[in-house]
Amino acid sequence: MRLDKYLADMKVDTRSNLKKAIRKSAVTVNGEIERDPGRHVSETDLICYEGRQIRYEAMQYYLMNKPKGLVSATEDRHQKTVIDLLPEDSRKDLFPVGRLDKDTTGLLLITNDGDLAHRLLQPGKHVDKTYIALVDGKILDKHVKAFAKGLVMDEDWTALPAKLTLLSEEAEGSVVEIVIREGKFHQIKRMFEVIGMEVLELTRVKMGPLELDPDLEEGEYRKLREEELRELGL
Ligand code: URA
Repeated sequence: MRLDKYLADMKVDTRSNLKKAIRKSAVTVNGEIERDPGRHVSETDLICYEGRQIRYEAMQYYLMNKPKGLVSATEDRHQKTVIDLLPEDSRKDLFPVGRLDKDTTGLLLITNDGDLAHRLLQPGKHVDKTYIALVDGKILDKHVKAFAKGLVMDEDWTALPAKLTLLSEEAEGSVVEIVIREGKFHQIKRMFEVIGMEVLELTRVKMGPLELDPDLEEGEYRKLREEELRELGL
């Protein structure tokens, strides 16, 4: 691809500013100054802009702390989506990996990597997902056992074994951690409904090897770090 496009795709500057910067010797290709914005380069070339190496990342990966009130979709006619939080020029092709309900907060992976999404969401893969929930009842040993055994949800669906741990008892109800290995629609809410409780607050804190970053406020996001990409097998 053209050198100016390579740098513009990596959000170094606008294409027209980059053309000027390249002509003024701001860019090197494999250690040599390159003044032609149309020079053909590829991901294997070493490109530096003002001395800083610019790697070509065709795939984008963001870790978001989803706030309440947004839908986990790429677009919606009536409601704001999680993608609307991202800068306009980065949104193309990005989508959330799996869905959190509008009133659920926490870890959401956003990417344009369809293969990774497939790997994480494939029903047979059973990627662990950990949630913290506030529920409006008292958690008893029989509930922990029923979750561990696999809750009978209805005549066609017995949930996979899930790990339920009581974290604290509050005035509003019980705070629990729950680890599930599938991701059906409203799964956590439906599981508590089966034992006669309502989920009042729900936050996802882990998905596979990824953990919610405590430095991210609700509505904030950052790129995945090298070690997180490695843990995802990328
Ligand atoms: N289970 C739910 O009920 N809601 C979510 O958002 C995620 C899991």
